[in-house]
Amino acid sequence: MTDGADRGQWGSRLGFLLAAAGSAIGLGNIWRFTYIMGENGGAAFILVYVACIILIGVPVFLAELVIGRHTQLNAVGAFEAIKPRSWWKWVGAMGVLAGALLLSFYSVVAGWVMAYALRSPLGTISGLASPEESGAYFEQLSTSPTQSLLFHAAFMILTMVIVARGVRGGIEKASKIMMPILFGLLALLVVRGLLLPGAGAGIEFMLRPDFSALNPTVVLTAMGHAFFTLSVGMGAMITYGSYLSSENNLPMASLQVAFMDTLIAIAAGFAIFPALFAFGMEPSEGAGLVFVTLPVVFHQMTGGALFATMFFALFLMAALTSSISLLEVVAAYFIDERGWSRGRSVWIVGGAIFVMGIPAALAAGPWASWSVAGMLGATEGQGALGSVHIFQLNWFDLISHIVSDYMLPIGGFFVCLLVGWFWDRAAVETEVRIGAPAFKAMNLWVNLLRWVGPLVIGQVLALGILAEFPAQYFPRLAGAVDTLHTWFIGLDILVALAVIVVSLFTGTDRPDQQPA
Ligand code: TRP
Repeated sequence: MTDGADRGQWGSRLGFLLAAAGSAIGLGNIWRFTYIMGENGGAAFILVYVACIILIGVPVFLAELVIGRHTQLNAVGAFEAIKPRSWWKWVGAMGVLAGALLLSFYSVVAGWVMAYALRSPLGTISGLASPEESGAYFEQLSTSPTQSLLFHAAFMILTMVIVARGVRGGIEKASKIMMPILFGLLALLVVRGLLLPGAGAGIEFMLRPDFSALNPTVVLTAMGHAFFTLSVGMGAMITYGSYLSSENNLPMASLQVAFMDTLIAIAAGFAIFPALFAFGMEPSEGAGLVFVTLPVVFHQMTGGALFATMFFALFLMAALTSSISLLEVVAAYFIDERGWSRGRSVWIVGGAIFVMGIPAALAAGPWASWSVAGMLGATEGQGALGSVHIFQLNWFDLISHIVSDYMLPIGGFFVCLLVGWFWDRAAVETEVRIGAPAFKAMNLWVNLLRWVGPLVIGQVLALGILAEFPAQYFPRLAGAVDTLHTWFIGLDILVALAVIVVSLFTGTDRPDQQPA
């Protein structure tokens, strides 16, 4: 154990809020959300997604912060402190591993963003005149071992430099500088997008729900993304929560971060889709949307080089404030549990993660051609549930799939169980009320963790495993999964409504009767 000098504390409430929002707002909001939404019918998807954020994402986010602030420890140490000498610490250990794995490929994608951000001011990116040209450009970048490795290394070094400077002097300071710039640039791009002639179709796509575009798998997609985008399920908020003091209102912070995160995702949609439609491109273009389609949009825009620079700069900052939180989760484990100094921890862990990312950087080639194929309308790579499946994957996809579709939901599942069922209820309530004495939704929150979280996450995991069997070889199974899924959605809606109603009319959510 260390004396705490290498651990650190947040310097201010705003600093913590921006760091937590920085962790949440990342590639997930700008790259993943927009293409998932594009493929799943725009506004209709947003509705399901917001429901998942409110009913599952926010409760788990708050639960992680509560665990972190209560124990003042990293993900592994926190579980061990609450349930000593039990298997619970393995939940934390899985989180630390997930953080390392996630960062190893996150940094590869962020490396491409960095390449685009550096080349945009030169007019290279907005010089790409057609989807074929930009597709070839992206493929050349992502399949070139030297370029992929170079940018992966550069991005990891940037991440390590920030985290090595500590919680307050590194993570908090970087977030305080980058987040406001990010907000400002995005606002400018939204205004620019909305003012384009022909933006109407994109605005309509964002606002008018097309429920026919929803398929039974949408809850699966929406919930997986809710976890990913809020950075929950792997102890990131346990770690960030452990640097908090008693003055913070945790329920309020959770709501604020979820609100900002959703706002930025939707704003990114408003920055991208109106422009996309204005220049006659299709929204459902898959993972290549941001790297392949957008450059062509910038090409057709007056001042394209400037707007491309703004876009990729804000994108890079979003990625960086997330990658520092991923590295911090792993580094904090070695600082707390192994007694390493911060510097040693950051450089060794960061170096190891760089090495782990090498196969992802080198294996991105087939993935890139897959996404370009998807862009051109081919349907390879679609399995029973329309997502990517293990059988057709390379290393890059495999890691991304295992982490975001399994490890994060499993982590979230156990956080629900711990805080909802297995941790002393009085201790939980006392911790939440520190800094938030008037919190009114204690019952609702605990009941969502008890019932809705495990139910929905359990289903998503079960169906996800069944969906690993490719539809073309197991057509009947795929049919059964779809039917099951439709039933599950009905069940989820009923349970969620029941939990909300019962929570509001029972229980003792009267702060005046709670111990101080
Ligand atoms: N939330 C980030 C994004 O949307 C990704 C991320 C950062 C993350 N830290 C995390 C996801 C921790 C899960 C856990 O890009």
